[in-house]
Amino acid sequence: MNKKTILSGIQPSGVLTLGNYLGALRNWVKIQHEYDCKFFIADLHSITVRQDPNVLRENTKKAVMQYIACGIDPHINTIFVQSHVHEHAELAWILNCSTYMGELSRMTQFKDKSQKQENVGVGLFDYPVLMAADILLYDSDYVPVGEDQRQHLEITRDLARRFNSTYKQNIFKIPEPFISETGARIMSLQDPTKKMSKSDPNPNGYISLLDPRDVIIKKFKKAVTDSENIVRYSDEQPGIQNLINIYSSITGETIPEIEKEFEGFGYGKFKVAVGEIVADTLERIQAKYNELNSPEYDTFLKEIYAKGAKEAHEIARGKLEQVYNAVGFIGRD
Ligand code: TYM
Repeated sequence: MNKKTILSGIQPSGVLTLGNYLGALRNWVKIQHEYDCKFFIADLHSITVRQDPNVLRENTKKAVMQYIACGIDPHINTIFVQSHVHEHAELAWILNCSTYMGELSRMTQFKDKSQKQENVGVGLFDYPVLMAADILLYDSDYVPVGEDQRQHLEITRDLARRFNSTYKQNIFKIPEPFISETGARIMSLQDPTKKMSKSDPNPNGYISLLDPRDVIIKKFKKAVTDSENIVRYSDEQPGIQNLINIYSSITGETIPEIEKEFEGFGYGKFKVAVGEIVADTLERIQAKYNELNSPEYDTFLKEIYAKGAKEAHEIARGKLEQVYNAVGFIGRD
């Protein structure tokens, strides 16, 4: 039986965060045996915000290692770097020509990110079109992402339907978002109304997958909460709500169970308990990461993303050919 296709990616715009892990990576690990999975490093996306070239190179390699350290098996999945498969940028151009300025202006991520910049690049505006290209090139059935990407998935579906109907051919499969119930929206530890993000200028706002235990505990101790001092899941207490979400998504305990467990504890002890459980989880990932982060694994890692690019390119090339043909481009030979 043919397996359904899964595709997802993470931008190498920093070391990956607990949000990336709980919202995306951890779910990829759970489903990797059931589906035909393609996981990529979205480096083209990351330059929509200025990156230092040397840091970007490092972060891209580190992202591959973090995928594997988190449990993505490179032998059964396709792992590749987005810029190694030029069809992504090419399909984005074609899709640009049938995307409306109005629909891109409505994207929440664009509104948020463009507010933080003086000169807003066209790339930032166009980001969802490139994301649609990533997904549509591979006939993806499901796209496992965090809640913040739902809107980008919706526009991907719209663009796919529009293209199919304009050219009267079923070229693109309409993908479904795959968003888990817990962990899909991890908030900043410093401002629980904003999502946890690796590009947050305040490192106390996020937990990096590579933060040492003492740093993790310290960041949780500093987490912004409120003055109620009751561990209760309520919209009035967004900081505590976020910590409960993190605890629940790691332990699998339900919210009432957690409220009961920490009844009468006060925030100090609860924050340390969340810190400990996160540190325990990341310790295992870090041990694997540290093993991979040595020159003797260089060739192994390069082979993984070289093989991944080759496999991805084979598929992407076929889809782009169909697209070029549909829009009326003539072949070279
Ligand atoms: P990025 O790098 O911002 O996020 C990568 C994945 O992590 C999830 N995520 C979170 N989940 C829960 N809580 C958070 N605080 C949190 N922060 C991030 C994101 O939802 C995402 O699943 N645009 C994508 C990258 C991308 C992509 C694609 C994904 C480019 N092309 C095609 C899927 C398919 C992104 O924002 O990455």
